[in-house]
Amino acid sequence: MDGEIVVGLDIGTTKVCAVVAAEDELEGINILGVGIASSEGLNRGVVVNIDKTVSAIREAIGKAERAAGVTVENVIVGIAGDHVQSFQSRGVITTHRDGVITQHDVQRLLEDTTHVAMPADRKILHVLPQEYIVDGQDGVVDPVGMSGVRLEANVHIVTGLVSAARNIYRCVEKAGYSVADIVLEPLASSYSVLHQDEKEVGVALIDIGGGTTDIAVFEDNTIRHTGVIAVAGTKVTDDIRKGLGLMRDQAEQLKRQFGLALVDVNQPDEVISIPGIGGRQEKTISRSALSQIIQPRLEEILEIAGIEIKRSGYARHLGAGVVLTGGGSLIPGTAQLAAEVLGVEARVGLPTGLGGGMVKEVSDPKYSTAVGLVLYGLNPEVIRREFLDTNEKWTGQQGQLDDSGSRGIVERMTRWFQEL
Ligand SMILES: Nc1ncnc2c1ncn2[C@@H]1O[C@H](COP(=O)(O)OP(=O)(O)OP(=O)(O)O)[C@@H](O)[C@H]1O
Ligand SMILES: [Mg+2]
Repeated sequence: MDGEIVVGLDIGTTKVCAVVAAEDELEGINILGVGIASSEGLNRGVVVNIDKTVSAIREAIGKAERAAGVTVENVIVGIAGDHVQSFQSRGVITTHRDGVITQHDVQRLLEDTTHVAMPADRKILHVLPQEYIVDGQDGVVDPVGMSGVRLEANVHIVTGLVSAARNIYRCVEKAGYSVADIVLEPLASSYSVLHQDEKEVGVALIDIGGGTTDIAVFEDNTIRHTGVIAVAGTKVTDDIRKGLGLMRDQAEQLKRQFGLALVDVNQPDEVISIPGIGGRQEKTISRSALSQIIQPRLEEILEIAGIEIKRSGYARHLGAGVVLTGGGSLIPGTAQLAAEVLGVEARVGLPTGLGGGMVKEVSDPKYSTAVGLVLYGLNPEVIRREFLDTNEKWTGQQGQLDDSGSRGIVERMTRWFQEL
């Protein structure tokens, strides 16, 4: 397999990030180009200003194109925001053909799991199979080729607001590109950050971004729960801004340069001076006072994440604890604070599993989602297992855009079957 190019586009609340990658047999996944632009068109993970978002997308993809020396056409884009909801569902079908289960049967079964009442303004983003049951035998990972008459599945269904997804499509198309897939952001981040063995023993991914904190819980190599919370790093900056009467940029810089998630009693305190605004006198603040502003907000974020994890029913199954990622996890001490608040092991995770190219440039928790989108796109197995090819996925005025989206999926599924 040589060099098919895959582009991950993470439209975040604070930055838009495009990652261009290709897979080759020798080096694995090569990062060919990265482009970042600051983002001002989103609020808490959701597009609220089309024009600003379009120009940020153009800037980010343009930079990545120039770095990679390629022309981008299709992108795999992320979606988040607290409109995203998820729940468990079940489906059952009987097979017709001599009792050997086919891919078509599985497809029919997954479709059956989606027959749930849903408000008209929502659509399904993902159907994530957790387990298949063949003639009463549970724990089947892949039933294709097995003998059986009665086929059941437990799935995790993720839904989102149609309008939120359409606005993402609209922005990408207006910027001159087309959407190959739309992927839940915490699911994408999990591909770049979590190790296989963590997913096996049980782990919760907590992606603290600017506008949203995204959660994904895994056990037995299967996704068990997803959730999106509308409190993240921007709130930490706002607290500093309001608490100290600073400008936004000053507060942001202060947080990045001196912020600590916990007061470190073993370190001597430092005094930080902040230039005054408009000829006013400079201000001073101790580093411990700064962390007294940061800590409660980070604790709040982690506590809400903890509630979300409890809601999943898997809080006691986290053998590998929690893995933090996203720019909001860059404040030193965040992992220690998470371990204290949640009572489990915690580490900060960055994108891994990459072969060559601009690996260093993306080795940062801020880029977990964009790299994860690329890994998602490069892994046909993921697509086969997790995509339900509903042609009417995001129909409506955007009919034409939807076609291009589902066509990409169908093409890739077909190609995968040919490779088999
Ligand atoms: N070096 C750093 N130290 C502390 N915080 C940082 C640092 N770099 C970035 N951040 C914080 O990370 C947050 C942005 O993280 P990230 O880039 O993951 O978010 P996003 O993807 O743009 O937003 P979202 O995922 O919520 O839509 C901001 O609140 C920013 O202040
Ligand atoms: Mg993000």
